[in-house]
Amino acid sequence: MKYIQLGDRRVSAIGLGTWQFGSRGWGWGRGFGPEEARLIVRRALDLGVNFFDTAELYGGGRSEEVLREAMGERREEAFIATKVSPHHLTRRGVWQAAQRSLRRLGARRIDLYQVHVPNPLIPLSSTMQGMRDLVEAGLVQQVGVSNFGLGRWQAAERALGSAVVSNQVEYNLLAREPFDTLLPYARQASRVVVAYSPLAQGLLTGKYNQSNAPGGVRAGNSLFAPENLRRLEPLLEVLRAVARAHGAEPGQVALAWLVHDPHVIAIPGAKSVEQLEANAAAADIALSGEEWEQVRVAAQAFRPAPLITSAFDMVRRFVRP
Ligand SMILES: NC(=O)c1ccc[n+]([C@@H]2O[C@H](COP(=O)([O-])OP(=O)(O)OC[C@H]3O[C@@H](n4cnc5c(N)ncnc54)[C@H](OP(=O)(O)O)[C@@H]3O)[C@@H](O)[C@H]2O)c1
Repeated sequence: MKYIQLGDRRVSAIGLGTWQFGSRGWGWGRGFGPEEARLIVRRALDLGVNFFDTAELYGGGRSEEVLREAMGERREEAFIATKVSPHHLTRRGVWQAAQRSLRRLGARRIDLYQVHVPNPLIPLSSTMQGMRDLVEAGLVQQVGVSNFGLGRWQAAERALGSAVVSNQVEYNLLAREPFDTLLPYARQASRVVVAYSPLAQGLLTGKYNQSNAPGGVRAGNSLFAPENLRRLEPLLEVLRAVARAHGAEPGQVALAWLVHDPHVIAIPGAKSVEQLEANAAAADIALSGEEWEQVRVAAQAFRPAPLITSAFDMVRRFVRP
């Protein structure tokens, strides 16, 4: 496992996203549940994966509870990142949300507390005062944000009066904007971009096709529409070719492409131990500069069908800063 610096802690370049835990939209309760979560988390720790991402929003708090149950006595081996929801961003709201998360996590401290999504109706000064209270009380070690643009990330740092060590954003081969907008700052200021949906919700593993697309939370993701699955084939072919050269899978190359940069942590979700193992192993795939560029060019050539705009996409655009 490769490790990177996140503020004053060493964390694995590949973490584990746990939106899947407790979320029926990801099939929780149908083929995977608490026992699989326990096996996934234990195997992750065995493999040196120590960054676990959750949120009070996931499964209405269930994800945090499942993570606690799954870690058991191994809590101290893990670095836990959770998030406060956008409707809890007043000073008092942040404090109270953290108390509830701590209870569900069975923890004395949150290693990284992230603002899940900005809320333009609540001043950042109030939110960051809440974060400062938690840090001063020893309940939160480091502060992060999520779905913030560069300007808002820096404004959060000014409001906090210290480093907001990470910004968790959608970052994958089909959503490369953070490479240009956030990574230059992360490199210059020793911050980290936490890449969510690093496999584009499973799409970049190459296992889905026009006759086999997933439902649930992904039913509204227009990238899974048959026309887009067809348009993705050339990129998947390049991923397969690069993967073959490394004795790997296409999804592993998609993850290796992200963590090629030492200021990126990728947090793929996993529904089985096999998926977790494949994802963790991607940290050790060293792409050459030429391979990295070949994959980037193939990704850039992908053009999603313009007329497929789902309600999900519209909501996402609305909440994006
Ligand atoms: N901050 C935010 O606003 C935000 C938003 C979204 C997500 N997140 C975080 O980011 C994490 C990851 O993002 P995500 O869950 O949206 O997408 P993702 O990690 O790109 O995709 C996860 C899904 O891909 C499939 N998969 C994973 N590894 C695989 C493998 N090795 N082989 C084959 N299939 C594999 C699994 O689903 P199937 O087997 O069903 O295909 C899995 O549930 C979340 O768990 C959450 O912690 C944060």
